[in-house]
Order: sequence, then structure tokens, then C-alpha cells
Amino acid sequence: MSPLYNTLQHTRLMPVVTPYSVEATLGIARALVEGGINAIEITLRTPAALDAIREVKASGIDILLGVGTLTSARNVQAIADIGVDFAISPGVTENLLRAGRDTGVQLLPGVGSASELMLGMEYGLTEFKLFPADTINGYELLKAFGGPFGDIRFCPTGGIGPANLKKYMDLPNVFCVGGSWMVPKGAVLAGEWEKVSQICRDSLALLS
Ligand code: 3PG
Repeated sequence: MSPLYNTLQHTRLMPVVTPYSVEATLGIARALVEGGINAIEITLRTPAALDAIREVKASGIDILLGVGTLTSARNVQAIADIGVDFAISPGVTENLLRAGRDTGVQLLPGVGSASELMLGMEYGLTEFKLFPADTINGYELLKAFGGPFGDIRFCPTGGIGPANLKKYMDLPNVFCVGGSWMVPKGAVLAGEWEKVSQICRDSLALLS
């Protein structure tokens, strides 16, 4: 198994977090842990993102620290310098794959086709995000990928939530599912951390 798989194999749910502020992101990280979730994908979608990632790292909160929405190779060195556990991109480019290889950042690149998958495999990767999963009929696509790409594992993301997460997780080539449903914007901005923790608990319960 790859180092990334070893890192994430017990994760099952990957919360996709928008870092509205450093404080809010720290609150989210604590709430996720309280709710039984052991990983966080902090997306590079706000100006606070890199500071939020640094602060979660420095906080000592016991959570696997991932970066998300990596849309170019531009931030890979900064991420490597912080020392995150993994980095997720919505798509895949050669520049990004090279940057991952050169810096040692463990990439989980997004794919939506066999060709994109094969590009990532050329760089030795065996785990991928499937994005945007529900829009591209990801459930059927993952079943089809199980034939030619039987050794590859996926984290479908995009349009996943309580109604369909179990269906995806039950596929043999899915090792976790990602999404933003665990961190609703309203709850985060109101600091309703127990609400976030409870959504996590309820989501994990759906998998048992
Ligand atoms: C992502 O960034 O991975 C997706 O936008 C998350 O998708 P969701 O908001 O449908 O969960």
C-alpha cells in the first residue's frame, strides 16, 4: 500500500473545509475530532487558508492535516514547508504531479476519466479523488474503474452527503468519501461546534 493509503485508510470521511478565518478553522478542527473524524481538508479558497493550515499544524490538534483545492503547482512548496500530511486537488496536471514528486507532498489528485487516472498512475500514484463524483455518475464510474484499475482506490467527493455516502463507501475501491456537508457554513460562522460534531457522529453512524 502507498504511504498515502496508510495515512488515510482509517479516515473514511474527509471534511472539505473552507477556512473563513484562522479561529473558525481551529474550531472546526476541534469539533471534527470531538465528532470522531481524524482528518481535515483545509481548502485554499480564502486569504486565510495558509495561515489557518499553519495554525492547525501548530495547535497540536490530533488530526491528519490535508490541504485542498490545490489548483496549480504554485502552493506546493509552501505546503511542503508547513509539513502537511496530504494535499488534494480537484484535477490533475503534469506540473502538479511533478511538484508533488519533487517536494514529497503526498498528493490525492482529482480525476474524472480513465485518461486522467492513467496520467496520475504514471507518477506512481494509487489513490485518487473522484471529482465531481455525483455529477459524473461517480457511483457507476467507480464500478467500471474496478475492472481495468482494480488496484486503484478512490475518495469520491462532490455531491456526497448523508443520503448517498454509505452507497459510495460500500464500493470495494472506495477508501473514504469527502464533502462539505459535515461543516455547514451557518454552523461554522455561528461557532456552533457541537452541531458540527453531531453531524460527524451521525455521518459515521451511517457507515456502521
Ligand atoms: C470539493 O471541493 O471537494 C467539493 O466542492 C465538495 O463538494 P460538496 O460541497 O458537494 O460536498
